[in-house]
Amino acid sequence: MADKVTVPEIIKMKQRGEKIACLTAYDYSFARILDSAGVDILLVGDSVGCVVQGQPNTLPVTMEEMLYHTRAVVRGRKRALVAGDMPFLSFQLGKEQAIQNAGRFLQEAGAEAVKLEGGIAMRETIRAIVQIGIPVMGHIGLTPQSVHRFGGYKMQGKEKDQRQAILGDALAVEEAGAFAVVLEGMPADLAMEITERLTIPTIGIGAGVHCDGQVLVIHDMLGLFDDFRPKFVKRYAELGEIMTAAVKSFIEEVRAQKFPGKEHSFK
Ligand code: KIV
Repeated sequence: MADKVTVPEIIKMKQRGEKIACLTAYDYSFARILDSAGVDILLVGDSVGCVVQGQPNTLPVTMEEMLYHTRAVVRGRKRALVAGDMPFLSFQLGKEQAIQNAGRFLQEAGAEAVKLEGGIAMRETIRAIVQIGIPVMGHIGLTPQSVHRFGGYKMQGKEKDQRQAILGDALAVEEAGAFAVVLEGMPADLAMEITERLTIPTIGIGAGVHCDGQVLVIHDMLGLFDDFRPKFVKRYAELGEIMTAAVKSFIEEVRAQKFPGKEHSFK
């Protein structure tokens, strides 16, 4: 296990056949826990909009909000690679805008890479960002910033022409210089084909077991978010239930004057 996960290290992990574990994080305390548990990549996802802000989708999330959360995550990690997610309209207006905002993640927040959604349509944007030295992680398939075009969070790549389009996106993202690509919401056999065709690692979410790594939204996998529960989420814990029980105990003890006890009071 590397002392510090770097972009070249992530690429080598694929070459060595080692799977990559990626989770989202949005603050210092979570980043510390996930980092010390050994996660390889901390993704400051724009999913913060849904699971932290309570927005209906990721579209309202701003650059300033992403920088705020990225700074907090960077302070909490020692080993993991931190990637900042470029929010809606922070990179689609042209290469200059995209470079500037990608650079802010590194310069103002301390991230080591950025992630952005889009395949062939974003090829030249990815190339421009990579050319100035900023590592880019692509994101194709069910890209949540296109939720309205898809008409909901629907699996992509079921039809033959959609499969070809997604494969084309994957090849374009790699050709443009991305160091890894998130494959979201697609059939496992398509993700397997992409993973075999690409030399850069694929990080799957709802894309089956054959990807080079997996990513989940931390609130989903810990049972902290119930607004919607995608099929691909495995709940590794039910922290929401544990928190509810703890808060109920606190309320009862406050009402019964059992808290604070002597051990929690000053003489
Ligand atoms: O915003 C996010 O958390 C993401 C991951 C789920 C890949 O894009």
